[in-house]
Amino acid sequence: MGMRVGRWLPVAGALASVLALAAVSAPGEARAETGRCGDPAQRPWCDPSLTPDQRTGLLLPEMTADEKIAMLAADDIFGGPLGGYFETAHADTNNGIERLGIPPVYMADGPAGVRQGKATALPAPIALAAGFSRETAKLYGGTVAWEARHRGNDVVFGPTVDVLRTPRNGRTFEGFGEDPYLSATLGVPWIKGAQSQGVMTAVKHMAVYAQETDRLELNMKVDPRTLREIYLPPFEAAVKQGGAATVMCGFGMLNGRWACQDDAVLNKILRSEWGFKGWVASDHFAPKDAAEAANGGLDMELPVGLRYNAFLLKMAVAQGKVTQATIDGHVANVLRTMFKAGVFDRDAYPNDLTRIDRTASETAARKIEEAGITLLKNDGALPLKAPKSIALIGRAAQKSPSGHGSAQVVPFTAVSPQEGLARRAGAGARITHDNGDDHGAAAERARQADVAIVFATDSQGEFFDKSCLTLECGEPLRGDQDGLISEVAAANPNTIVVLNTGGPVLTPWAGQVKGIVQAWYPGQEAGNALARVLYGDVDPGGRLPVTFPVDESDAPASGNPAQYPGVDKTVTFSEGVMVGYRHYDSKGIAPRFPFGHGLSYTTFGYSDMAAGTEAVQVTVTNTGQRTGTAVPQLYIGMPSPGGSVVQPPKQLKGYTKVTLAPGESTRVTFPLSSRSFAYWNEGAKAWKVASGCYQVMVGSSSRAIAQTGTLGTCG
Ligand code: BGC
Repeated sequence: MGMRVGRWLPVAGALASVLALAAVSAPGEARAETGRCGDPAQRPWCDPSLTPDQRTGLLLPEMTADEKIAMLAADDIFGGPLGGYFETAHADTNNGIERLGIPPVYMADGPAGVRQGKATALPAPIALAAGFSRETAKLYGGTVAWEARHRGNDVVFGPTVDVLRTPRNGRTFEGFGEDPYLSATLGVPWIKGAQSQGVMTAVKHMAVYAQETDRLELNMKVDPRTLREIYLPPFEAAVKQGGAATVMCGFGMLNGRWACQDDAVLNKILRSEWGFKGWVASDHFAPKDAAEAANGGLDMELPVGLRYNAFLLKMAVAQGKVTQATIDGHVANVLRTMFKAGVFDRDAYPNDLTRIDRTASETAARKIEEAGITLLKNDGALPLKAPKSIALIGRAAQKSPSGHGSAQVVPFTAVSPQEGLARRAGAGARITHDNGDDHGAAAERARQADVAIVFATDSQGEFFDKSCLTLECGEPLRGDQDGLISEVAAANPNTIVVLNTGGPVLTPWAGQVKGIVQAWYPGQEAGNALARVLYGDVDPGGRLPVTFPVDESDAPASGNPAQYPGVDKTVTFSEGVMVGYRHYDSKGIAPRFPFGHGLSYTTFGYSDMAAGTEAVQVTVTNTGQRTGTAVPQLYIGMPSPGGSVVQPPKQLKGYTKVTLAPGESTRVTFPLSSRSFAYWNEGAKAWKVASGCYQVMVGSSSRAIAQTGTLGTCG
């Protein structure tokens, strides 16, 4: 097994064209489907009125040993790691068992939209995170899944909820940034939005995955409290609140145990403690040993059964290394999840691009980008005041940059900033472009315009970390972008910088320019969203999900090779819970732009905070002249329970997003639970609430606290 050619593949393909059912149905709309399981009279597990567990219990005993093992690995290496390079619609396929009516399962990357073939390129997940909006996350997951489904997929590999440890991580753009609460609260609606489209999600990469350098062999030494408080919460929420159907375990080792063979994480925490009932699939080629993976909690190997094949698994059982019950348990996890998701009871999803409502996806892409564009600095340059001429500088003005790897999407079409701005400006402004290769010429072009907008970008993606955080870093082809910005700024006092980066970069020129707009990797609606924000048709909705440092050495896990990038392929997370802004706060380092920061075109006031253990409330007032969007944030500073447990000065525990007209006020509520006040007590192996004084802080960023109070016992 392993390499057999997908015998259902042509069938599904034929179904797509022959059975193409009527018109495109709207997201969530039920379609009449006949199912693929068969007649319940002959195959009792095909009776949809039974529970997934009952159906699994009926089907499992009918399966041969080989058939069981066939359910534990995908079968299609060419749709696997190489899939992104071909016009295939799938990353992986499990072929199912025709004899028993077990349908095939098709899987696709990924967290920013379907990677295999063309798709709507949504803004990078980091841009979604900047939106600080659960509704937007739901829209994002729903859009990804809608397209995955109409490319014939049952599973989509996303969202990526790995908490960002170092901004040099090549996959920074692919996750939700440096805070576990933000990542968790965005992952849940993403998953719900996606699964409501009838597509199973694969939340990834469990348990800890924080860098590309040595990613396949890295041993990550992480203490239990840090694991529980920083890296696991997004997975815990994805499973307990989001109901994620599947989990993808990652590469590398956590405390000496391979991620896809880690009994302590996969069996004990994920299944026993959190009650996960779905299946665990491996990242590609991650498992090392059949018996260890089987006993360690892995249900399905991707992209093929290098370890989970009949030869190795039968031998492991014969040698007494793995029990048949363990194998059966993995098969049951896969079948139960398929039953629960309705896979047996519906037709195959046709791979039919015409079913994708591209207009809806495009609108989603634009809205998500508008919600995530983050105004870092504004000395009155924005919104644009009907300039007669605009000089666009830099190659990215004519592109929509993206990260690379499995979270890269080949867009159906893309609107560049130049196109979007030209369309918005109409005949009112003359728009010119200079690619910025010759700084002198670019500065001259800028000098002649009312406004100069410089586009700068970085490069990041899977397989490599960034070697530093400057714009130039590792990018000789892009030239000296910092120098370009400075020269343009010297030539035109109305210079605005648009950053199309996947995460934090150094901005040594920040004091020289009038405005800085972080547009992230913007997706295919780049130009339209940017134009609407720059012209003030919509308020910039984004707030930073990652801290921007002043210097390279200010960033977390920098300066100590044992912390990063590791020594002898071992990294020690000795910073513990001091990740992201917790690091800057605890060390007293002033960031360039703090976590949570992002300006509106209006101003907001915060008043009348009321703090209780079940909720904190505050009144937000638009004190400016325009309608705008506020993102009130709640941080809690916890008392140290003593011993070696040091608490970060503040931790995000709530956020919301409100749009208010000038002069308008609203009362916002941040709901809390005992978990909001809890820390992981290593001795008790449990969440505990320490006695003492809790600082309650509400503001517009982690460094702009407007209201403070206390809870608990304060001296
Ligand atoms: C990545 C996964 C991805 C898989 C399939 C791996 O390299 O780490 O996130 O789902 O490739 O493309």
